[in-house]
Amino acid sequence: MLQDYSHVVAALIPLPVMDNAVDEGDVIMSVGDATLDDDHRRFFSLVRMFRDCPGGPIHELVTSSMLFILEQYVDGHFRREEGAMALVDFPGLAEHAALHAKFRDRIATITRQYRAGCLSAVDGLPALVEGWLKAHILIEDMKYTRWIRSDLVDRRHVAMLSIDSP
Ligand SMILES: [Fe+2]
Ligand SMILES: [Fe+2]
Repeated sequence: MLQDYSHVVAALIPLPVMDNAVDEGDVIMSVGDATLDDDHRRFFSLVRMFRDCPGGPIHELVTSSMLFILEQYVDGHFRREEGAMALVDFPGLAEHAALHAKFRDRIATITRQYRAGCLSAVDGLPALVEGWLKAHILIEDMKYTRWIRSDLVDRRHVAMLSIDSP
């Protein structure tokens, strides 16, 4: 069983945001709200951090921390989106929330396996997160862009959202 220092390391590792210079892909993937777009950029930053994570003794500590951050972002961002959709009575909310729940379960399973000592559980994680996210934003998140009202989007940090009661 790996020791879990993620709460310590999470406080030490800055989570970079992509450059403000928005590239073509960002424009195509914008959902029309700056906070939600920023969450999405941070997911992609996290994917790059997973890919860049070096081997060696620090590897497991860093990976464990990044899994903690990923879970926090998944939970907080999904709550932010679902809350914003609920406030405008978005008709596709239940279906969208079900897709979120399925992905959240996949990440939770991988995290559980990794922390139980199965280090290979994270081997395909960057590709999984990147692939799922791109498809989800382009197909599912885009469905709410005309409904969402930016003044109703909860702008608190995902860490605060993820500790809200369900
Ligand atoms: Fe999203
Ligand atoms: Fe979504």
